[in-house]
Amino acid sequence: MGNEKVWQGNTTFILAAAGSAVGLGNIWKFPYMVGSNGGSAFVIIYLICIFAIGLPVMVSEVLIGKYGRKSPINSLKNLSSEFNLNANWKYLGILGALSGVLILSYYSVFAGMSFSYIFNIFPSNLSDPSNYSSNYFKEFSSSPLSLIFWHSLFIIITCFIVGLGVVKGIGRSVNLLMPFLFIFIILVSIYSSFTGDIKSTLKFLFSPDFSAISPQVVISAMGQAFFSLSIGMGAIMAYGAYMPEKQLIGKTVITIIFLDTFVALAAGIAIFPIVFSNPSIEVSAGPGLIFETLPVAFYSLPFGSFFSIIFFILVSIAALSSAISLLEPFTAWMEEKGFINRKFIVVILGILIWFLGLASIFSFNVWSDIKLFNLNFLELLDYLTNNIMLPLGGFFVALFVGWILPNNLINQSLAFGKFRLKLFYFFLKYISTSSIILIFLYSAF
Ligand code: PHE
Repeated sequence: MGNEKVWQGNTTFILAAAGSAVGLGNIWKFPYMVGSNGGSAFVIIYLICIFAIGLPVMVSEVLIGKYGRKSPINSLKNLSSEFNLNANWKYLGILGALSGVLILSYYSVFAGMSFSYIFNIFPSNLSDPSNYSSNYFKEFSSSPLSLIFWHSLFIIITCFIVGLGVVKGIGRSVNLLMPFLFIFIILVSIYSSFTGDIKSTLKFLFSPDFSAISPQVVISAMGQAFFSLSIGMGAIMAYGAYMPEKQLIGKTVITIIFLDTFVALAAGIAIFPIVFSNPSIEVSAGPGLIFETLPVAFYSLPFGSFFSIIFFILVSIAALSSAISLLEPFTAWMEEKGFINRKFIVVILGILIWFLGLASIFSFNVWSDIKLFNLNFLELLDYLTNNIMLPLGGFFVALFVGWILPNNLINQSLAFGKFRLKLFYFFLKYISTSSIILIFLYSAF
């Protein structure tokens, strides 16, 4: 194994994996999904999914990557041949690499929007900021050209970082970016708690209301758990391949999950107090919550425009460190195939993803009326990847590690004590696999 592709020290792996996990899913999607799915009921199911399904699946992904030391596809392929298993397991890696490319195509559109909002400073003395904001958002999203501009910029930066390589590109950028992200999210949540309505926020997020639970809430919470933890598509598996040999899988995964959950809840605490402090704003505003509604709320608060800039820088950093992990599995695979070199690969993939992203951009405007199952292209792609492809990928990862791989390999790689090992197997083999199937069935009928 060439050591040039292993991150030195324990922090880079943690920052990279946390960078992958913490993204638009936490800061943009989690708050609006909580807002439109009944508040605390969603939060509770989400947290259960994170710990009962997400934790064992993430441990399994890191384990496969760390043992295989290759791209997810080749790690799965090599493991299968080493232990005489069915050769088709590599398709699990292929499904993941494809999901990554599909997700990145629309992820980049929203990430580009966040980028642009760093520069969206409201003029002073507006008589109706709410009207100004919705007009701005309407104009922005109905103009394919401005969306394409920011989408292109975001794809170029993502490809540039991944093209620089695992150590110089991904490793360095997460070391640089992630500390800012954590400082900013704490700063904005403190600001919101003091200037906004923290009481209503805490009630909204944490006082249980089980009557709001429905099949749709459950499947959305599971999809969101997979999406937020970056599991089910090989991003964490790909990073696992660059984990130092001595680093412990269990402790590291717990740290990553803690950071991801912390940022999602902190994002709720950063956003809802401001939203609740403004009676004209709806919490259930949906995907427009941070773009259309939040700026209005910031506008009315002291130092609001300063914190709005900080907030959108924060969102952009989070999106960037996730986007690179969406691109890495496919890139690493192509690189192993000897497909000229990494830089060339990311250019080709970047162009492909860019084109695919156009379809999502047009869903906001010229294609907004084209619908299948009452969903436009973007909504369909979001549903397909988050609620179907990622949970399916996670299900097969759990099946592979829980039921197929030899136990002694797992026991050795994890180095867990007896009790923890038993708990891990129980959750992986029975709880995570059956809950994914049950949730699929529950939401289908
Ligand atoms: N976890 C990222 C987020 O929360 C998105 C992501 C999903 C990244 C899957 C990689 C893989 O925004």
